[in-house]
Amino acid sequence: MARSVAQTGRIAGARMPDRSFPRLPTLVAFALLGGAVISSLSAAPRPTASVDTDSPGERIFTQRCAVCHSTGEHAAQGPGLGGVVGRRSASTRFGYSRAMREANLLWDRPSLDEFLEAPTDLVPGTTMPMAIPDETERHAVIDYLATLSPVEARPAAKPEASDTSHDYRGDRPGVRRHITVADLAKPYATPSAMNGPEVVAPPSGAHPDVPPGFRVDVFAHDLLGPRLLRVSPSGDLFVAESQAGRIRVLRAADGARVAERDAIFATDLERPFGIAFYPPGPQPQWVYVAEPNAVVRFPYRNGDLIARGDPQTLVDSITDASGGHWTRDVAFSADGKEMFLSVGSASNVAEANSDERDRADVLVFDPEGGGRQVFASGIRNCVGLAVHGGDVWCSTNERDGLGDDLVPDYITRVRRGGFYGWPWYYLGNHEDPRHKGERPELAGTAIVPDVLLQAHSASLELTFYDATAFPAKYRGGAFASLHGSWNRGKRTGPKVIAVPVVGGVPTGEYEDFMTGFVADDDAVWARPVGVAVARDGALFVSEDGNGTLWRIAFSGD
Ligand code: HEC
Repeated sequence: MARSVAQTGRIAGARMPDRSFPRLPTLVAFALLGGAVISSLSAAPRPTASVDTDSPGERIFTQRCAVCHSTGEHAAQGPGLGGVVGRRSASTRFGYSRAMREANLLWDRPSLDEFLEAPTDLVPGTTMPMAIPDETERHAVIDYLATLSPVEARPAAKPEASDTSHDYRGDRPGVRRHITVADLAKPYATPSAMNGPEVVAPPSGAHPDVPPGFRVDVFAHDLLGPRLLRVSPSGDLFVAESQAGRIRVLRAADGARVAERDAIFATDLERPFGIAFYPPGPQPQWVYVAEPNAVVRFPYRNGDLIARGDPQTLVDSITDASGGHWTRDVAFSADGKEMFLSVGSASNVAEANSDERDRADVLVFDPEGGGRQVFASGIRNCVGLAVHGGDVWCSTNERDGLGDDLVPDYITRVRRGGFYGWPWYYLGNHEDPRHKGERPELAGTAIVPDVLLQAHSASLELTFYDATAFPAKYRGGAFASLHGSWNRGKRTGPKVIAVPVVGGVPTGEYEDFMTGFVADDDAVWARPVGVAVARDGALFVSEDGNGTLWRIAFSGD
């Protein structure tokens, strides 16, 4: 599909100057997470001192792969790649997507070549996001991968049998949690764990747990990595199947427990995530879709199951740096005059060489993509963005590598011009030890977010409950999905939480709403990503481990 460029409104110098990143890369090698050296994700050359010692393949690996993959067997955001050449696909203890689990490949040079050229062409639905289009670079990386031998897996720190308060075993619908800055652990109080779960098929009899009076139905299944969900004003459910590059639409009559229509609204997109209908109100004319580096929109009328025209590109370059956190969410102010866009960081904590200009921000544009400005900064990875009650809200993934109980993820109202600390500070005036003494002038300027979530929960989409079908305690509050931890010895479970909001103000607490996705200490069978409220007041939840979409309704008791 050809894209017409309607407008590319980029305002020079829109980034807040006092918090900008130095352009000169610092010469610090960062040892993080079990010794893996995490470095730049940008294409910027590394300092010559280290160029001499690395092979070109190793250099590319460090820049584009090491943020997710170790060179041993430790699972992080991706499977460990030690010994990958010669082993079967999806054969390590890692939470592979169903697509990858079923691909049944032998990793040799030709199959790796094909996979790395375009991962989703070889394995449709894989969650591996990084291609190496350039053949020379690809071969260099494969040469490097071939030098990595399997190493003995060091067992991750296991939960103490007696301590059930702070891991998944304490998860249950109705359990309330209230984490405050007074509860913060000290950096490195526990080692930084590599403890990603394996994703397994649902064990027999497995079902999600919800509070009494609610029922859960499988609304649709076998989707390809369903992620963000948004319901159109006419009640259709839009689903971002990010790795498959498409947006799906599901339709059912109010009250129906299973989707009745299923169509592909748009395809050939680059990892679509955020979806928004514009203008706000009952008669949208456009569906906006956010890709890692662009915002596009499709003409739309209520009832469309397939895009009625080619996409227009409104923002053709969100950042100069590629890689790193790739989900972008998009939302409009209630009056339709402002378009908010969340842009996660390129790296964990701005390690040496990472190019973080225009990253870890919420940006604001006019609805045509012009007038670009930074709305708020220092927000590491605002995966879920919402506008509610006149406020912009973020559901944010905080940084890794400081131990089990640091740094709490958070859900917060986001202040215009607000600074939330990343990477130098966290949760107010707590200096990150990895940036000690670098920005004393920013001490005390970082805002403490509203609702702190257990560290490493991986909070993803956020939605507000303004319907009336659920009991009163949920009305006006939010639901949010937590994907579950990997950087925690004591796993925090995948789940959906309810976030009480009273008179537009969050109380700081949250409550488990949908739990029960952990199969055993090392495996989970679902990982919630998307949450959206149906026109009839039910709650939709997507999970990308096994491709399920649930509908949760209140049936009363
Ligand atoms: C943002 C995280 C991320 C980055 C960056 C990334 N990967 Fe991956 N990779 C993954 C995930 C997640 C999977 C598992 C995919 C699945 O289950 O569908 C994966 C799977 C793989 C596999 C299959 C391994 C197996 O055990 O079957 C290979 C090979 C691979 N990646 C290579 C690379 C290379 C080479 C790079 C750098 C060019 C890279 N990846 C960059 C996340 C990442």
